[in-house]
Amino acid sequence: MSSPTKLSNLLLLGQGSDLLSERGVSCTGELPAASDPNLLARAIAAKKALGERVLILGHHYQRDEVIQFADITGDSFKLAQAAADQSTAEYIVFCGVHFMAESADILTGEHQKVILPDLAAGCSMADMANAAQVDQCWSDLERLGVAAKTIPVSYMNSSAAIKSFTGKYGGTICTSSNAEKSLRWAFSKGEKVLFLPDQHLGRNTAVIDLGISLDECVIWNPWKTQGGLSESEIRNAKVILWRGHCSVHGRFTKKSIDDFRVRIPDIKIIVHPECQHEVVTAADVVGSTEKIIKTVTESAPGTQWAVGTELNLVSRLASNNPDKKVYFLDRTVCYCSTMNRIDLPHLVWALESLVSGRVVNEIKVDAQTARYSKLALDQMLAL
Ligand code: 13P
Ligand code: SF4
Repeated sequence: MSSPTKLSNLLLLGQGSDLLSERGVSCTGELPAASDPNLLARAIAAKKALGERVLILGHHYQRDEVIQFADITGDSFKLAQAAADQSTAEYIVFCGVHFMAESADILTGEHQKVILPDLAAGCSMADMANAAQVDQCWSDLERLGVAAKTIPVSYMNSSAAIKSFTGKYGGTICTSSNAEKSLRWAFSKGEKVLFLPDQHLGRNTAVIDLGISLDECVIWNPWKTQGGLSESEIRNAKVILWRGHCSVHGRFTKKSIDDFRVRIPDIKIIVHPECQHEVVTAADVVGSTEKIIKTVTESAPGTQWAVGTELNLVSRLASNNPDKKVYFLDRTVCYCSTMNRIDLPHLVWALESLVSGRVVNEIKVDAQTARYSKLALDQMLAL
């Protein structure tokens, strides 16, 4: 953790107590106490005992106490690639959220088991699109005669059911590091894109990277009849954006950028593309977590950065770059609470269970869903 002067958001450290009260839920009675002084030694011993039978993948938003045990750290794209490339480890322990573990299960072999240390580590954005809603949307597009020219592009941050829908209808998955490529590919195949479930990533990519106008993007509200859109709005749209968002990135504001620029005139602003359009357009650099890390790390000593993404990553970035000043962009934004669910007690519990021959919290996508999801994921990896 960096010094308080670098990270104004340390006031949020109190959040840990809320999380503690929720921790016992997913593995009642079995979880080591967070206060156990031997936790670190237990994690080291369990990992050593499993040796090459286990591969631990860690997303950049994970806590330090967990990320220190990851064999590979990365953004969602890099971790999906790592899962696809890894054919020997018997167990993949995924320190991230549910949709990432599902994707890893789809991309790994039958002989491999994917484990999510806490099943409550979901993603509120992924939950904003369910299969029934997406099927309804597609049948509305079919009724209007536009489905045949529409290519679904689904963000990695979606359930396997949504990925399966995407594969079934000839679309692709994308992540924040390849959204532009994915949209360009989709427009080479069709005239319209249905972008699920993050409206911000879809809009930012379509407008900023592809030069599509804001007027050509419409929002599909799954809670309203025909998405809350008129027939002509649907027919005229180039991009139909699902009404979903990230509850963490959606909170960054343009006002914090303006305030930073007044306080520190040579500040550079870097944000994740899940942020709102006005935030992304006001920033100097936009990119996935991997790009944010690379850009800040490779910048000249003395550079001052205000970073708009999850707090665990920003704190680590500040600690790892003592020759730069790294600030958290907005003090009203906090950790991703579901990413934070994976803590050392859950990791120790999952690893020690494996050592004792018991597979806990396995994530298994059914064969039918996995088949179409894999088509869409392979399409992304092929791009
Ligand atoms: P990336 O890992 O693609 O940068 O996405 C960030 C995120 O929100 C993951 O949940
Ligand atoms: Fe989901 Fe946002 Fe958390 Fe990523 S940061 S897991 S998109 S809620």
